[in-house]
Amino acid sequence: MTRLGTPLSDSAVRVMLLGAGELGKEVAIELQRLGAEVIAVDRYPNAPAMQVAHRSHVIPMTDPQVLNGVIMAEAPHIIVPEIEAIATEVLAQIEAAGLATVIPTARATQLTMNREGIRRLAAEELGLATSPYAFATSAAELAEAAHRIGLPVFIKPVMSSSGKGQSMIDTLEDAANAWAHAQSGGRVETATVIVEGRIDFDFEITLLTVRSIGADGQTRTDFCAPIGHRQVKGDYVESWQPQAMTPAALASAHDIARKVTDALGGLGVFGVELFVKGDHVWFSEVSPRPHDTGLVTLATQTMSEFALHARAILGLPVDVSQHDIGASAVIYGGIDAVGVAYEGVAEALAVPTADLRLFGKPESYVSRRMGVATARGETVEQARERAREAASRVRVVPG
Ligand SMILES: Nc1ncnc2c1ncn2[C@@H]1O[C@H](COP(=O)(O)OP(=O)(O)OP(=O)(O)O)[C@@H](O)[C@H]1O
Ligand SMILES: [Mg+2]
Repeated sequence: MTRLGTPLSDSAVRVMLLGAGELGKEVAIELQRLGAEVIAVDRYPNAPAMQVAHRSHVIPMTDPQVLNGVIMAEAPHIIVPEIEAIATEVLAQIEAAGLATVIPTARATQLTMNREGIRRLAAEELGLATSPYAFATSAAELAEAAHRIGLPVFIKPVMSSSGKGQSMIDTLEDAANAWAHAQSGGRVETATVIVEGRIDFDFEITLLTVRSIGADGQTRTDFCAPIGHRQVKGDYVESWQPQAMTPAALASAHDIARKVTDALGGLGVFGVELFVKGDHVWFSEVSPRPHDTGLVTLATQTMSEFALHARAILGLPVDVSQHDIGASAVIYGGIDAVGVAYEGVAEALAVPTADLRLFGKPESYVSRRMGVATARGETVEQARERAREAASRVRVVPG
């Protein structure tokens, strides 16, 4: 699609975001800049992307009938899933009927919403290096798998994200607890978990990989500079770009990311999560959309991952070049409250090169991501220090 239109007119290119969080908000802003008509959908009102969209809908996106109804009523040209908890069978039907383009593809959203689907594709079909793994559907199976793989192991519900229901165990005595914890944190009752042997990595990266239409009309693949990040309880707390790595590891990372994204197909940004030790690289998982750790690209790249996504899905050319070394640090709610206020913003922005995104989420929870600070630097260390300092100066207080 190389023709753009006028929003709210017959020529409009209508883009529906399924999931209207902070990543969707930045994508919506980039789409707005190109004159797309943006419709944001999420399960709660006033979600971040709804605040910058032309229209919004509040629905349970896991309900196939309701989701289908909204899609039919809005008739979007492009559907952009931002989260995994979506009735993806509806997307498959819409795509099969040729009613809209699903980003990147309906199959990719289905495979990646379930750890089993993407892991079997990566390890068994594509032959990529991953942690040793097994699937379990009971506490006994979990213990048996952990014993076979070798402790410590990570246990994750196959249908979950952001660390929910995850645990790591060092002894088989904790298997029952890990099983119970997974049941409480999974998205659905299907109760399957993946048991993964621990990879003793030096660092982990997100390799943002962009599939777009090139000048020759063919799909091309570009890689952003690797993003390093630090995870606490399955949630990212800071990220930086670039993460230094050996030429062999970088080549291997590109090779893995190309194979996975080729297999998933479609257009847009993918966040390929990889573990690295020396020259060795293991595939962990992939998001078929911009990645939270990629918020750093707001400060470092000519086109942020959100601009890249918007451009790619509209069939436009992309530029993945990095202009600065930078870092991002997450600002958590720290309190449970509605309509919070932010203090210390001026002090945060007084940190050299610092910038902020306050997502405008209507409700704060202690461990909810409410904003992010970014900064640039001469070195990654300097950028990280500045981003952390800026984030720490912002205080979330009752409104
Ligand atoms: N097999 C493993 N070996 C070593 N570390 C692991 C392994 N699996 C997970 N981790 C650690 O836990 C983090 C979260 O795991 P994973 O990415 O699979 O879960 P997630 O719920 O999808 O998290 P997110 O949604 O934030 O990406 C990883 O980034 C890594 O730090
Ligand atoms: Mg992850």
